[in-house]
Amino acid sequence: LVTAVIVVAAGSGERLGYGMPKAAVPLGGEPILMHALRGIVASGVATQVCVALPAGNQDLRRLCDDFREELADGGPLLTVVDGGSTRAGSVRAGIAALMEGIEAVLVHDAARALTPESVFHRVSDSLVAGAAAVIPVLPVVDTVKTVAATAGDDTALAPEVVTGTARREELRAVQTPQGFTIGTLLKAHEAAQGLDDQQAAAVTDDAMLVEMLGTPVHAVRGSTQSLKITTPLDLIFAEGLLEGPLG
Ligand code: CTP
Ligand code: MG
Repeated sequence: LVTAVIVVAAGSGERLGYGMPKAAVPLGGEPILMHALRGIVASGVATQVCVALPAGNQDLRRLCDDFREELADGGPLLTVVDGGSTRAGSVRAGIAALMEGIEAVLVHDAARALTPESVFHRVSDSLVAGAAAVIPVLPVVDTVKTVAATAGDDTALAPEVVTGTARREELRAVQTPQGFTIGTLLKAHEAAQGLDDQQAAAVTDDAMLVEMLGTPVHAVRGSTQSLKITTPLDLIFAEGLLEGPLG
């Protein structure tokens, strides 16, 4: 399948708290985005890599331009677009910049900068085998409970009432890259345009939109190395991984 990877890198990185977009934050002396791009290209799955950047960010645009120079002949086409104000908006900006002839798309968080090549391969292989949508997942280690929803900030630990306990063996933590046939991704994001603001705010990944269509989403094994660098603690963890991968 002729495959594109859309890299969403347009977030502001509030929780990391570096006062710069997360994609530009150094990890092992190089911007997080550079690690993500190298991993994608090394996997060899992509004919096109389309990066959604924070609108107007010249430093990251230059980084992509420099990386394009590094790419060998026969490497993927690297394009950049301005991302949107939401992750889904950034994915849509990427979709709009896909080249003719793309048959499958992997949507990947730049923040999962250390994702192993093997995960890209498992997702890609599943699409080749006929899945319309596929996500990398891991078992959940914590017991997960539901609570009576309180309005606002989910990091503010106000006292809450527990409403239930999910069966852990049925739960999976979901990562990226998430893979889709082009038709499935287009349909999913078209449907997303019809959601109201509250529904749209609850969309945290692309596979959710496919589930809403009633299309089966397949799951393959993810990796602990694919952690989403979100908080300062995650960055310390990622620095540790660079020293030497887990077994
Ligand atoms: N993302 C994006 N466009 C947005 C928001 C997020 O492309 N408007 C991307 C981020 O760059 C990141 C991925 O989506 O690679 C996952 O988002 P998250 O980890 O939440 O990153 P940020 O939104 O940058 O972080 P924060 O929520 O802490 O501000
Ligand atoms: Mg965010």
